[in-house]
Amino acid sequence: PVPRPLAGKRVLITAGPTHEPIDPVRYIANRSSGKQGFAIAAAAQAAGAEVILVSGPVDLGDPQGVTVKHVESARQMLEQVQAALPADIAIFAAAVADWRVANEGEQKLKKTSAGMPPLQLVENPDILATISKLTDKRPPLVIGFAAETEHLIDNAKSKLARKGCDWIVANDVSPATGVMGGDRNTVHLISRRDGEIAVDSWPAMTKEQVAIELVAHVARSVTD
Ligand code: C5P
Repeated sequence: PVPRPLAGKRVLITAGPTHEPIDPVRYIANRSSGKQGFAIAAAAQAAGAEVILVSGPVDLGDPQGVTVKHVESARQMLEQVQAALPADIAIFAAAVADWRVANEGEQKLKKTSAGMPPLQLVENPDILATISKLTDKRPPLVIGFAAETEHLIDNAKSKLARKGCDWIVANDVSPATGVMGGDRNTVHLISRRDGEIAVDSWPAMTKEQVAIELVAHVARSVTD
């Protein structure tokens, strides 16, 4: 029989970018492809979990056997995440926009002689931090990602503390790495172990392999 170490577990995953509207036809986005989050959803499903994937706009087909909620903005993503609780494990792989446009146009913005329209930005809700700090419905294992272009490990360690999650999967997304949009990833798993912060650096592998390894770690930690 196929091993199903996550049978009976409910896993909530976010993936992809968010689109933050400027007006009815324009938006602010980022280069996230959603590949890593989708691969984690597929791996968790294969491990026997019930999987809910909340995804921003991506060019990927829905993984088989996974419940997918498609959203555009960070606020919609938070709403779907909250609606999907409770969960045993939450993995926040989405590249959520830090800011949205405060003065979103109801109509398409037009060129005028007055010059360029100013875009005012306001901070988006932090989904990972919000869910990590829940007192009633906090999933027992909350995992965040840290995509950085410099000071990767230090930034990831402070993110672990600041956001209140249990693990951080840190990856270097400098353009030279090809991680954003690419098929491979080099990650470091940062977790709290015996009161210390432990850093496990994994070799470069495909995003599917990263997903399988991560799900194996999750399975070990929830069955321990
Ligand atoms: O702060 P930063 O964006 O680097 O944190 C990355 C982690 O936080 C990722 O797990 C990402 O999915 C999550 N995040 C979030 N909501 C935000 C910003 C980040 O869930 N608004």
